[in-house]
Order: sequence, then structure tokens, then C-alpha cells
Amino acid sequence: MAKRVAKSRKTKSNKPWGGRFQGGTDARAEAFTESVSFDYRLAPYDVLASIAHAEMLGAQGIIAKKDARSIVSGLKAILREVEAGKFEFRAELEDVHMNVEAALTERIGAAGGRLHTARSRNDQVATSLRLWLRDRVDETQEALLALRRALLAQAEAHAGTVMPGYTHLQRAQPVSLAHHLLAYTQMLRRDGERFAQVRERVNVLPLGAGALAGTSHPVDRKMVAKKLGFASVAENSMDAVSDRDFALEFASAAAIAMMHLSRLGEEVILWASGEFGFVELADSFATGSSLMPQKKNPDVAEIVRAKSGRVFGDLMALLTLMKGLPLTYNRDMQEDKESLFDAADTLLACLGVMAPMVESMRFRPEAMAQAAEGGYMTATDLADAMVRRGVPFREAHEAAGRAVRIAVDKGVALGKLSAEDLKEADSRLDAGDLAETDLEKSLRARSSAGGASVRSVRAQIRAEKKRLGI
Ligand code: ARG
Repeated sequence: MAKRVAKSRKTKSNKPWGGRFQGGTDARAEAFTESVSFDYRLAPYDVLASIAHAEMLGAQGIIAKKDARSIVSGLKAILREVEAGKFEFRAELEDVHMNVEAALTERIGAAGGRLHTARSRNDQVATSLRLWLRDRVDETQEALLALRRALLAQAEAHAGTVMPGYTHLQRAQPVSLAHHLLAYTQMLRRDGERFAQVRERVNVLPLGAGALAGTSHPVDRKMVAKKLGFASVAENSMDAVSDRDFALEFASAAAIAMMHLSRLGEEVILWASGEFGFVELADSFATGSSLMPQKKNPDVAEIVRAKSGRVFGDLMALLTLMKGLPLTYNRDMQEDKESLFDAADTLLACLGVMAPMVESMRFRPEAMAQAAEGGYMTATDLADAMVRRGVPFREAHEAAGRAVRIAVDKGVALGKLSAEDLKEADSRLDAGDLAETDLEKSLRARSSAGGASVRSVRAQIRAEKKRLGI
């Protein structure tokens, strides 16, 4: 939707709350306090909530049925204008809610003035924001699934591709590329679970709380909840208008998801470097250097890594915004929107670009195998062979460590040590143990549930496919 906010037209008090005022608002105060320049994004949700409210007012006989009907048809026309990007938002009307209401009254006359019966902007804004966020949560879930599918497809193609697994960014033990990628699908699965919980707490109706204390009119909040698809009605009117936990929870789930994307981005950046050479990015998801002709840069992954900081900042801004507020509504809460919008927009943008980038990455199994050969990563397997003959693990660890030192000194792989070398390391080591240092064998041996063996990885793939309905 195009943003169309016109400059303020009047300066004397022409506000919907102007009754108590004699003077107009200073243009600087007006410009400073308006929110329509950003909360215009709530317009479709504000209109939908108003339609449900008006229908309820009519059904309950709080306003005349005929007025309710004309309000609803006026609001529907406004919704069409909003969706077509033709609705003109006016800064002097402060926020999206008053813009919609003023447009309604301009359109249908006096009946428009009855819409605000039994509600306040305090329960109204909380309702619109929840409706807006519920849609973003659903989009986030779709985007998380798309990235999981992309990772899963790469994992399936590389169930048998051996690579070094790292701790401290030092080569540690051989794993398969699939095992590594599937670790990320686990993170994203947990993100999905978190967002599902966020949705439950978003999906509660504040409307009917009024300004803070409820209303003297015989409203039917359950009817409104049903019309808007809310699962329940907020139980305490003071909490209803002052609660922003749902926004904080979204930002916090988004921050965690962004941290995951940033880690994945970091891996891609490392893997795409000449030093690793584990992956070739598709031309369509890399950029060149304006100076160095040889460069192919992982800018998408870098920008995702950078954007995680914004979302952490959004979460901090929201927490700080809320922490000092006495009950109930305070105007500070108007500042919740840009942080929340930014967290949702940023996460969706990052997920949206990561999925096709992962899909189009070409891995280099040869480079991974070469790196896996070089790191003495099967030293644990040598120790484990001794353990199976009854040597305590701590002693076996010492012995395998000595074998590694000898191999490093001679500049050979563990598997190339001679029988004498092994004896020198520990008399309980024998030449037969060297077979254990084979990478493939080592990988096969990690067959514990959730381990790196191809068998375990295949089980993980099956489970993830089932969850994704593939
Ligand atoms: N624009 C306001 C916000 O975002 C709407 C609620 C204003 N309520 C009030 N009593 N001034 O929070």
C-alpha cells in the first residue's frame, strides 16, 4: 500500500477530542505526536475491527440497526480505498484510527459519529495491532517452512557428503553436510513452535475494554471476538489496554530466529571463502566488487547477519518502552509500532531471501573431503578402539593424543603411522586400530540416535519430511 499522508490542513482545534480545548495544537507538537505516518499500515485491520464492532453495536441495540448498516457499508468502501492505495491519510487527524473515523463521517454523515460508542482508541489500537501481527505471524510461519524445505533438499542431496564438524572452529570430528544442515532445520522448527505460541497470546481480543475500565453499554465481546477470529476475550480491561507482551514475545521470537539466520549466514560466508571453498554461491545470490574483478561476495548472507542486530534492537526498544509504564495506557505505547513493524519486516525479508539462496548453493564435496582428511579428526575413534578392549577412556585419550603428535611431527595422516609409531605412542595400540581412522568408517560408527551416521541422518530426514508433509 502506498503511503499517502497529506500535510496538516488546519491549526485551530478541529480534533475529535477538541471539546475540552479552546486553542489549536501547535504545528510542531502536532507533527511530533502524530503516528499516522507509520500506523497507516494498520488501516485494513482497523477497518475490519470497526466493522465487527459496528455489527455488534447494531445487534445489541446499542445503536440503531440502520446506522450500523450504513457504518458497515461506509467502512467497506473505505477498506476498498485503502487496499487500492487511494485513501488519503491526514497528519492533523493524528493516527490511523481517527483518519478512518473522520473519513467515515465525511462519507455517511452523523451516523459515523456513533461508531466510537463503547470503545476507546486504547482498546482499538491494541485490537488493530494484534490483528496486524497475527497475519505477520502466519506469514513468518510460511517463510520458516520454505527455508526448512530448502535446507532439507540440500541435506537429502548430501546425506553421504563427509565434511569436518567443528568445535572452536577447529576441525573436530567428521560429520555429513546433511547432519550440519539439519541442525539448522531443528533451530527453525523451534522458531516455528515459538511463533505458534506467540500467535496464541496475540489472538486475544482487547476490544470492549474501553479506555481502561470497560463500558456501561451492553456489549457482546464474544460476538466481536468470533467475527474477528480471536480465540478468546481479554479478561481484565486494564490489562487489555496496557498489555504489549504479545509484541515483546513476537520481537523476542524474531530476535532468536534472526540469531539463527545470522549463524547460518556466517557459515555460508565462511564456506564461500577461498580458505574453505566448501560452497559456490549461485551468481544470482552473490555480488561482485567494483574494484576487484575476481571477487564473488556473499553479500546476502552478510546483510542477513547484519540485520539480526536491528531486530535485537527492536526487542530492546520495546522492553525499554514498556518497563516504566504505570497502568494503563500511556502515549509512550504509540512508539511500539515502528519497532514491531521493523522486527516483522526484517525477519520476513531475511527468511524470504535465505530460502532461495540456500536452494541455489552448490556445495563442493571434494573440498569438504579434503578438509576432513587433514584434521586428525578420527583420533577419538582410535581411542574408542582401545576403550573397547577395556582401556579406560582417559588413558586411551592420552595414547591417541600421543599418536596424533607423532603423526603431526612426521607430517602424515593418522592412518599412515607405522606399527612402531603406534607402539611408541602406547604399547596397547596395534596396527589393526588404524582401520578405525578411516573417515567413512568413523562416520558410520556415529550411529547413536541423533548422531552423524548416514543412518541417523536418514532418520532425521524422514522425520523432517513427515513434519513438512513432503
Ligand atoms: N495512536 C495511538 C497509539 O498508537 C492510539 C491510541 C491513542 N489513545 C489516546 N488516548 N491518545 O497508541
